[in-house]
Amino acid sequence: MNELLNTMKTRKSSRAFLDKEVPFELIEQIVEAGTYAPTGRNLQSPIIVAVTNKEVRDHLSKMNAAIMGSENDPFYGAPVVLIVLADKDVRTYIYDGSCVMENLMLAAHSLGLGSCWIHRAKEEFESEEGKALLKEWGIEGNYEGIGHVVLGYNEVEPASKPRKDNYVYYVK
Ligand SMILES: Cc1cc2nc3c(=O)[nH]c(=O)nc-3n(C[C@H](O)[C@H](O)[C@H](O)COP(=O)(O)O)c2cc1C
Repeated sequence: MNELLNTMKTRKSSRAFLDKEVPFELIEQIVEAGTYAPTGRNLQSPIIVAVTNKEVRDHLSKMNAAIMGSENDPFYGAPVVLIVLADKDVRTYIYDGSCVMENLMLAAHSLGLGSCWIHRAKEEFESEEGKALLKEWGIEGNYEGIGHVVLGYNEVEPASKPRKDNYVYYVK
C-alpha cells in the first residue's frame, strides 16, 4: 500500500495525550498541509488559527465544555488546538473547512502525532466571548467555526474501528 493510503487507513481519533510539547516546525507543516485542501472555486474560504498558548487553550476548552454543560476537558489534554473557521459568504464554506480539517488530521498522523476533530466551534465563535477572541487575534470577517483539530503525542494508541457494511456501492 502506498504511504498516503496507509496514512488514511491508520488515522484514528486520539483521546489521551501526553503532556509533551509539539515542536513548532511540526505545527507549521501541519497547518501548511491544511492550506492545500481543495476549496470551492478556489476561494480558499477557511482560515486556521493555531493555538499553542496554554492560557488560551485552557480558555477555549472551558468555553467548549460549557456549550455541552460539561466540566471535563473536551480537548483530552492535547497541548495544541487548531481552529478552522470559514467565510460564511462563500457558498461552499462548510465543505471547504471540512476538507481543511481532514488534511490537518492526516498530516498530523503522517508526522507521528495524534489528533481529534472537536466540534462546537460554531457555537464557540458565535458567542460574544468567541467574537471578542477573534477580534483580539486580529481576525475580521464573517467567519463561522467549523471545528477544532486537537494535536499532541498519543498517550494511548487509539483503536481502529471496523467499517460498516454497504459503505460502498459499485455501479459498473
Ligand atoms: C464532524 C465531526 C465532529 C466530531 N466531534 C467530536 C467531538 O466533539 N469530540 C470527539 O471526541 N470526537 C469528535 N469527532 C471524532 C469522531 O467521534 C471520530 O472521527 C469517529 O468516532 C470515528 O473514529 P476515528 O476518527 O478513530 O476513525 C468528530 C468527528 C467529526 C467528523
